[in-house]
Order: sequence, then C-alpha cells, then structure tokens
Amino acid sequence: MCGIVGYVGTNQATPFLIEGLTKLEYRGYDSAGIAVFDGEKIIVEKSVGRLASLKEKIAGHVPQGLIGIGHTRWATHGRPSDLNAHPHTDCSGDFVVVHNGIIENYLSLKEKLIKKGHVFKSETDTEVIAHLLEELYKGDFEAAVREVLKRIDGSYSLVFMSRNDPDKLICTKQDNPLVIGLGDGENFIASDIPAIITRTRRTYILNDGEVAVVKKDSVWITDREGIPVTKKIFEVNWNAEAAEKGGYEHFMLKEIHEQPKAVRNTMSPRIAKDGASIVMSELKWTREYLDSFEKIFIVACGTAYHAGLVGKYYIEKLTRIPVEVDIASEFRYRSPIINDRTLMMVVSQSGETSDTLAALKESKRLGARTLAITNVVGSSIAREADQVIYTWAGPEIAVASTKAYTTQLITMFMLAVYMAGIKETLAPERTRELIACLREIPAQISEALEDVEPIKTFAKEYGFNEDVFFIGRSLDYDVAMEGALKLKEISYIHAESYAAGELKHGTLALIVEGIPVIALATQKSVYEKTLSNIKEVKARDAIVIGIAAQDDNELEKYVDHVIKVPQTDELLIPILAVIPLQLLAYYAAITRGCDVDKPRNLAKSVTVE
Ligand code: G6P
Repeated sequence: MCGIVGYVGTNQATPFLIEGLTKLEYRGYDSAGIAVFDGEKIIVEKSVGRLASLKEKIAGHVPQGLIGIGHTRWATHGRPSDLNAHPHTDCSGDFVVVHNGIIENYLSLKEKLIKKGHVFKSETDTEVIAHLLEELYKGDFEAAVREVLKRIDGSYSLVFMSRNDPDKLICTKQDNPLVIGLGDGENFIASDIPAIITRTRRTYILNDGEVAVVKKDSVWITDREGIPVTKKIFEVNWNAEAAEKGGYEHFMLKEIHEQPKAVRNTMSPRIAKDGASIVMSELKWTREYLDSFEKIFIVACGTAYHAGLVGKYYIEKLTRIPVEVDIASEFRYRSPIINDRTLMMVVSQSGETSDTLAALKESKRLGARTLAITNVVGSSIAREADQVIYTWAGPEIAVASTKAYTTQLITMFMLAVYMAGIKETLAPERTRELIACLREIPAQISEALEDVEPIKTFAKEYGFNEDVFFIGRSLDYDVAMEGALKLKEISYIHAESYAAGELKHGTLALIVEGIPVIALATQKSVYEKTLSNIKEVKARDAIVIGIAAQDDNELEKYVDHVIKVPQTDELLIPILAVIPLQLLAYYAAITRGCDVDKPRNLAKSVTVE
C-alpha cells in the first residue's frame, strides 16, 4: 500500500501534493517524493523517512509549477531509500510515474529494457514503467501509456506526467484505488478521498482498466482500449476523519475488510502462472540447502506467534522437516539447541519487536541461518535476517492485528508448499489442488465477511460476560488461541483458549451454566473427537457457538449456534475460520464501549523487552 497524488491547475502544485500526501501517510510512510514541471523541466525531490523529511529537504527551494505528482511509500520491492522512493523517471527525465501496487512481471521487463540500454537507478518494480514508457513513446503520450498497460501484469494505480505534454496527467488503476477530484480550473488525483476532501467533494472514482487524461479544466475517461466511459460524479459526504478510515468506524474494521485484497497481494505474485507451483523468487532454495537443516525454529510474539503455530503444522505436514515454535521472550533464556544445521524463522508484522529481534540475533550468534517473515520492508528484523519474505499486507494501524495474521498464514502456507516442491514430499496433483484452493481464499474471505449480522447479535448477547472459552483441536486450536487473544486485547473479556482434548484435565471445572464457549470444528481429521469435547461442555450447560465448514450439517445438532465459513481444504480453513472471531472481538469491544484501535496498556509495536 502506498499513497499517490496528482495536481494540474492554475495554482502551485507543491502545496496540494504535500497536503494530500500528509493525508495519505496512513497508507505508507517509509519515504516520500514529488515531481513538478517548472515550465522547462521536471524537478524531482525525494527523501527516505516520513513526509517531514521531504518537507525539510525542500524547505527554501519548494519546486514551483502548476502540475505535479507525489507519492508516500510503503516499500515492497527495494528497501526504503532516497533512490527507491517515487516518483521514478526514465533515462531522459522526461517521463515520471508514481505507483501503488506490485508489477509482477517487472524482472523480465527490466532485463529486456537493460538489454536495450536503459539504465536503472532503483531496485523497485515501478521504475520499469518509466523506462517502458520512454521505450514505447512515439510522440503520443496517451498512446504510449496504453502500450505500457498492455505489457505490465499485476496490481496498480498509476499517475504519469510527461515533459512533452505538460498540460495533462494520465492516470489508471487495476486492483488499487484511485479517485479524481474535480475543482474549478484545477483537478486533483489521489489514492483516497482524504487527500482531496478539503479541496473538493466532487469526485470520479475510477474503475479497474479505466484511463483518465486529466487537464486543468477537463477530465477525459476511457476504457483500456480508448472507448469513452460515461461516469457519474460521486459527491463525498463523509467528514475527513471518516474518510481516512475509508468510511469505517475504526482502523481495525477497515483492516479486517482489507483482508481479501491483502492476501491477494501476498499470494498472487508467488503463484506460478500454470498453477502448478509456488515461486519464491526471494529465496531460490535448493534441495541441498533444505537438506542441510535438521530443524526449523519459528520464533515470534503475539499474533505472529500464533501464525507461527500454524506455520509449524504446514511445514511439518507438507515437508516432514521438524519444526519447533517458540515465544521470542522465552526463546533466548532457555539455552535453545541451535547450530549451523538450524533454520531460524522469525515472524513479525512490524519487523521491530525487540524480543523477536533479540532472538534472531541470538540464533545468528549460535550459527543458525535466518529467514524473516515481515510486513515492513527495511525494518530492523528484515535487515538483520539473511533472507526475507515480505507479506505485503500494507500498513496495519490498529493495535489488534488482523490482516497481518491472515497474510502471515498465507505466507507460511506458500512457503511450506514451496519447500515441499523442492523436497518432492507433495504429489504434483495435490500441489495443484492446494494452489487452486489458495486462489479461492480472497473471495472466500469476502464471503465470510458478509455474514456479520449473527456475529453482532452474539456480541450483544454475550459481550457482557466476563469469561469466554475458545476450544479446538489441531489447527482449530491454533485459531482458537488467536480468537481468544483478539477478544482479550480489545474487549478486555477474560478469554481462554484450550486444546479441546485437554479440557478434562482441569479446565472443565470452570465450565458452568451459561459460560460462552466458542468451539472450532473445522478439522475433519479430528472432528469426532472435537464433537465429544463439545458434548462435554454442553453437558455442563455452557452456551456453545460452533465454527464449522459450510458442508457441516452435524454440529448444529449439538451446539446453540453455528457460524459457517466457506468450504476449502482443511489446511487453509484457519484463514477463513479466524474471520468470524475477529469480527466477534470487534463487535464485543463495541458493545462494551472500548477504544478498539487503541486498547488500554497495549502498543502496536513493542520495542522494549
Ligand atoms: C504487539 C502487538 C501485537 C503483535 C505483537 C507482535 O504486542 O500489539 O498485535 O502481534 O506485538 O508484533 P510484530 O510486529 O512483531 O508482529
């Protein structure tokens, strides 16, 4: 996720570009840049760090001009740096582009362009677009942009500016947002409404594949082939604060709803076109490399630790390599058995959690080879680890982690399938089957998100209970842990997760009449066993809400309510089963009047031990 802006009009561009980017900083904040046409040439100013660094850099020599574009970055390809910051230019400096998204085929395009003599300055996927435009430009800016679009694959919203046509900006989008704000003698472009809301409330919301030529007094919109599109003006009637949260009441709810897109971003660049394998171009592992490990450790904190538990299941099941999972704050103090035959994986949304970072450093000291799974490019953990897989979930702002968890699960799953491919521990047909299921997940998350009314009712009904239990077996137990953590974090309800089969060894004593028990029963391999445990709590008059797969017609006979999630492979169902639990935590917190995005005593990123 990044934020992009554009301005063309009769006023100076820079003040709007900076103001707009300030409003979009929630979309990314590791570097920022602007490009302004000064009447002769395009001036580009960029700076690593938050927008304040860019403002400082241009203070005293603010680029002057009536047309410009800007960007605030959340790095995906290439660490945060001045060079990797957008806007990106071609060799001549005549074309500039800002981009939000991922160009999946950038490496092959880059190779071809280098062969043709183009010189690249950054490590980004975006820069290929500027060079491609230069390559394809035959005197018609718009035609060249259309040619570029034919050659790039992936997700994007893009704004282009050309020194040869300094009266217009061209913008387009595919799977990432873009809006055009209609002013009086001036027009605005932005990733999101908060950037333009103080300037105008009249907007066009671009659809995928639409291309807009934006001048100071006109906006001409066509489809990808150039056929004109008639669009309705969308009048924004939200206030600025609501606009920043995309109309949602809280960042947490917004991020819950961003999950279909976030997991698509995580997975789609890593699935081979023929659907037969997972491609981890960042790893390039070999059989020999994998065989050199006796053991894998997964170490993390909080929600990332819960993702690690699922990761252990995936890797052991699909590759038969032993995996140990540990909480980072425990790991270092128990003399873990680590050596050069250990692969240490750390999982961290922020990449800054100090316990996780310390565990990573300790394992390196002991000779382990290291891999980080993180969401933040260039973070301390990303820099410290030998290798990195980015989850590409976009910035997560709410303290309670949601989209980071589901994208970590997707990453773990893909990593396990990738490793199994190398080790030949998974039959090709089963690999295809799993990848086909994986591809369905974004749409299935959307489906699970629609089923919200019963969850709101449960939250109202049981939201004032002081104790709730979450039970499950196998992968369901891992998800139960995450469900309980979500509820604790934001609603302050005492929630305890328990391996369903372990209840009878003590915890069952706490199950009395009216206690809510959330029972996950999505795992067919342990279904009958889970059912027995559900009967045990029902016999003590607990109120049981079951979470089941769509095809389950059994569970409803034994529980008080059932929430069904779409059907998928047993391995992938945790990614769907957690959705109602996130929503339940959210609505329980609302029922109790809690500050959802900023729960008491907690911080998004814990950089103290
Ligand atoms: C904090 C956050 C949790 C998060 C944990 C690990 O406690 O509140 O939501 O899961 O840190 O964070 P990380 O950034 O390392 O994933």
